[in-house]
Amino acid sequence: MKRQISAVKGTKDILPQEVGKWQNVETIAKQIFELYGYREIRTPVFEATELFEKGTGETSDIVIKEMYTFVDKGGRSLTLRPEYTPSVVRSIIDNRLYLRSHPLRFYYIGPMFRYDKPQKGRYRQFHQVDIEVFGEEDPAIDAEIVEMADYLLKKLQVLDTETLVNSVGCRKCRPSYIKELRSQAEKVKDSLCIDCQRKVVTNPLRIFDCKLETCQEVARDFHEITDFLCQDCENHFNLFCSYLDFYGLRFKVEPRLVRGIDYYTKTTFEIISSRLGAQDALLGGGRYDDMMKDFGGPDIPGIGFAAGLERIISVIPFLEKKREFIYLVHLGEEPKKAGMELSQFLRRKGIECLIEYKERNLKSQMSRANKLGAAWVLIVGEEEIRKGMYQLKNMTTGVQEERSREEIPEIIQAAS
Ligand code: HAM
Repeated sequence: MKRQISAVKGTKDILPQEVGKWQNVETIAKQIFELYGYREIRTPVFEATELFEKGTGETSDIVIKEMYTFVDKGGRSLTLRPEYTPSVVRSIIDNRLYLRSHPLRFYYIGPMFRYDKPQKGRYRQFHQVDIEVFGEEDPAIDAEIVEMADYLLKKLQVLDTETLVNSVGCRKCRPSYIKELRSQAEKVKDSLCIDCQRKVVTNPLRIFDCKLETCQEVARDFHEITDFLCQDCENHFNLFCSYLDFYGLRFKVEPRLVRGIDYYTKTTFEIISSRLGAQDALLGGGRYDDMMKDFGGPDIPGIGFAAGLERIISVIPFLEKKREFIYLVHLGEEPKKAGMELSQFLRRKGIECLIEYKERNLKSQMSRANKLGAAWVLIVGEEEIRKGMYQLKNMTTGVQEERSREEIPEIIQAAS
């Protein structure tokens, strides 16, 4: 018996009827990023596993539980990228992009892979639009990328959003906070889930990422990182917030927003939507000032964010514009060839033209054109070929006229 092969769990097809929405979002995102001086970069879908272990971080859930890692035929351990940031940093170092005078501002749109439990808004293959900036220390850039994210969401008509911000400190101030957190967590270890009990030892900051209500309840009593920031981190955070005010952006300080990834320093932020359900983050990001030098590159700070396309697309109205096309009706072998030539001629003039190669009579071809929503029908029969004049029907007005090959594109373009 033949067995049907279905899509892999946690993946989904983007069908032609939805693809217009995706293309709209991608086009608007690209236009906005370019307005802010970003340029596209494309890196491979898989990388050395070590890149994410070192970058995303060994205590993150992504690295511990969610990576699609495999050994290739050459015996190398490779991983389908679960996120984009470490790949960009690697590419900058590999290609010495920091030696060029261009600003180091990049954007990227593409698929990511995480072996997470699939549910609404959470997939194993999903898509991100991502931006990254390097070499900017000033908190003005932190505010500028939040402002850009906000503008993008407004342009896409995403409503009901909330912006959450925090600072996770730096290598100077975080260790004393982690020490304090660990001793607090040790005392209530038995109330935490098995995963969080492990986190008490490996990285207690990660307890804040736990989605279980019981663990969140316990974590609510923990000290807040904002009380432990060094002078430099505190100044940075205050200035960041003041620049958000300057842009007139509303935001909430959320001291438990540590964002599940190990590389963050200072600023973290997320924009969430009440329309999304449990997986409510439309986008998230932050500063990662140590990654470039930790990867053996120059000491250049970085900051960026990524937005989940599936989540954005699930909350925006349908913006697709109706397509105008000609349906070419042909009656017999000679008219079929004349129709093929006419279709080619019209397409070269930039007019969408559909010709199907099935034996159908005039009536059924007309009703097919109607069903498909053709704006025009062009009828080619033997009589039309002989006269060099074709029947062109406007499907909206119902008016049918005889037209020469040269007149057809002019009429259609004038009407659109
Ligand atoms: P992230 O928070 O892991 O950050 O992911 C960013 C966004 O990707 C999330 O807010 C969500 O919209 C979407 N997303 C994440 N996982 C899934 C999933 N399994 N299914 C569907 N959508 C998902 C990062 O990836 C960082 N690299 C962001 C960044 C850039 N930080 C600095 N630069």
